[in-house]
Amino acid sequence: MSREIDVERARQDTPGCEHVLHLNNAGASLAPRPVLDAVVGHLELEARIGGYEAADRERAAVERVYDAAARLLNCGRDEIAVVENATRAWDMAFYSLTFRPGDRILTTMAEYASNYIAYLQVAQRTGAAVEVIDSDEQGQLSVDALRRAIDSRVKLISITHVPTNGGLVNPAAAVGRVAREAGIPYLLDACQSVGQMPVDVGTIGCDMLSATGRKYLRGPRGTGFLYVRRGLLDRLEPPFLDLHAATWVARDRFEIRPDARRFENWETYYAGKIGLGVAIEYALGWGIPAIGERVSGLADRLRAALGELPGVTVRDLGAERCGIVTFTMAGLDAADIKRAMAAQSINVTTSSAASTRLDMDARGLDRVVRASVHYYNTDEEVERFCRALRALARRGPGGPGQ
Ligand SMILES: Cc1ncc(COP(=O)(O)O)c(C=O)c1O
Repeated sequence: MSREIDVERARQDTPGCEHVLHLNNAGASLAPRPVLDAVVGHLELEARIGGYEAADRERAAVERVYDAAARLLNCGRDEIAVVENATRAWDMAFYSLTFRPGDRILTTMAEYASNYIAYLQVAQRTGAAVEVIDSDEQGQLSVDALRRAIDSRVKLISITHVPTNGGLVNPAAAVGRVAREAGIPYLLDACQSVGQMPVDVGTIGCDMLSATGRKYLRGPRGTGFLYVRRGLLDRLEPPFLDLHAATWVARDRFEIRPDARRFENWETYYAGKIGLGVAIEYALGWGIPAIGERVSGLADRLRAALGELPGVTVRDLGAERCGIVTFTMAGLDAADIKRAMAAQSINVTTSSAASTRLDMDARGLDRVVRASVHYYNTDEEVERFCRALRALARRGPGGPGQ
């Protein structure tokens, strides 16, 4: 058992808690004061003394993001690239890999649309095949099915840890064991898991991992990062290079830098980078295991409360579930529910079939409501949200008070 989160202090650190009941933490969490101060402070410095000059002066603060991300993931700072979002991080890894006709890419039912679109594009270009591993009876990736699918033509295992459309946590470490035994590169989309549960690349055994700043890490929007295992770095040629990723050493020659910053580019969001470093340090200050316990406990209580509401069906899959809670309500459209909650300053979002088509189509779902909790949410907030839903169910989408 890790130490408990001081929720009152967490809320005092979070200006947004005074204004909204925020259950859209898997969208973008409310930033804590230290992150806000770091970002705004750097923007103000840029305005005062100049952007290049501000970056020079704050070089140490910029560099701290690499140490923070390395501590968070348990890797080396040279294995981290900081980019503008999780999609770009993931793309830089994925499009660095080469595929030939007949090569196989193994993935999951829970795959995120942007990743799957990239698989399809690469499959069309190269003749590689994209294959979706079945889920087990609990709805998570079946590790047995994955093991059975391995052969010499499998060139990549690429899975989503926590999908965009639910509380499912795929068995990332068990997948890592299969990948390692078979010597197959393993790319993990940890966009939705990083910051809400321990994600240790050594324990998981992935070779590449993508993450974002604004979700469970509570960092600034427009920030993300990529981990690439040191042993793989010099075998991955990034799909784009610039004068930061490589050096033009002679008229007809360039050299790609040896570390993971080969996946970055020169111009970057310095205030965001500093803010991301502060956000990661802030999360580490609370302790990721403590955050994980608080988030999953609160989400379990929310699922249980939703289960009591008439007409509500909780849609989360998996043996292990996280802070993301999805549901539908009979006779009510997810978008109407979101709107009705917004009118009461309750932030939730919806997730549509186009974001996780394999899973949503298989379950006959078009759109679900997504309520995602963080450690600064309270049991009272969960109760208030459920009361608002109960009232909405009574009066229907067209009723008063919306
Ligand atoms: C599973 C998953 N992967 C990747 C992404 C993309 O992250 P970003 O918007 O930071 O590029 C998301 C965003 O919701 C996601 O849910």
